Amino acid sequence: MIKIAPSILAADQMHIAREIQRVMDAGIDLLHVDVMDGHFVPNLSFGPGIVREIHAAFPTLKLDVHLMLENPMRYIQVFAPSSHIITVHAEIKDDVGTVLDIIRHEGCKAGLSLKPGTSIEEVEGLLDRTDLVLVMTVEPGFGGQPFRWDMLRKIRRIREMGYKGLVEADGGITKDNLSILREAGLDIAVMGTAIYKSDDLAGDIRKMQAMT
Ligand code: DX5
Ligand code: ZN
Repeated sequence: MIKIAPSILAADQMHIAREIQRVMDAGIDLLHVDVMDGHFVPNLSFGPGIVREIHAAFPTLKLDVHLMLENPMRYIQVFAPSSHIITVHAEIKDDVGTVLDIIRHEGCKAGLSLKPGTSIEEVEGLLDRTDLVLVMTVEPGFGGQPFRWDMLRKIRRIREMGYKGLVEADGGITKDNLSILREAGLDIAVMGTAIYKSDDLAGDIRKMQAMT
């Protein structure tokens, strides 16, 4: 079964709580929250306050927090009590291995994300300190971009290397490219635009989760 993590970046920002309830009623597995600092990526999005409020309002919902921050180290303790997974990027200024260790120490699953230009070989030495690898299938920063088909090779490569953790992809995923992602070894699909534009959310989610 593939897990679906809707990204609230694509939700109606004036009605976040309603938009979360809608995807929860449709049977999602996790909720993806993109945190951007305007430096690591050229955009700003959600901060710790909204993540805390979402966790307080939906305590059973597992939050998959994607930190697109140049210096995530100082924010791990802030996000940890509300998060299930915290993912940081391989390309940050802080020491990535240390940040991953802190995430685990705080009781969350530690994710490592790779921009399209970063190969899995570059981070091979860090993989045993991760619970998840997030393969960006667009340049991070904005929703609604086209899927990078060349990233399929990276996902296959991670599996060929015998990686035992979870593999997640983020950016441009639709129900049309999901089955090939599954074949390549994907466990969790982050989906923004495709989820929030769907006319049959519960039906689409059920069909996508059933892809073997
Ligand atoms: C991009 C974000 C993604 C984005 C995915 O930086 O990390 O989570 O919201 O959105 P879609 O599915 O619209 O590409
Ligand atoms: Zn994301």
